[in-house]
Amino acid sequence: MPKVKVLNLGLEFEGIENETIMQILYRNGIEVDSACGGHGQCTSCKVLVVQGIENLYPPEFEEEETIQEYGLDPEKERLSCQAKLNGKGDVVIYLP
Ligand code: FES
Repeated sequence: MPKVKVLNLGLEFEGIENETIMQILYRNGIEVDSACGGHGQCTSCKVLVVQGIENLYPPEFEEEETIQEYGLDPEKERLSCQAKLNGKGDVVIYLP
């Protein structure tokens, strides 16, 4: 099972393919800000992906639009409510 490792908390959680980072964090009691309610329209849930960005599915339309609108770096920053594990490996993140 792929894992999401949260570098600055020293924690790691198992996830499954197609689960979002936010779902995994919530399931394990980690609150993430979600001003838009998890619809990919704000950046309050953004996380820094330190390693394993290739183990997330590429951004879909909604996330892509928001990344561009807010000037995020798509190689390092993802919206946790939208970024889904592709099941191929672990992802290491940093929570801002
Ligand atoms: S909660 Fe708004 S983009 Fe994720």
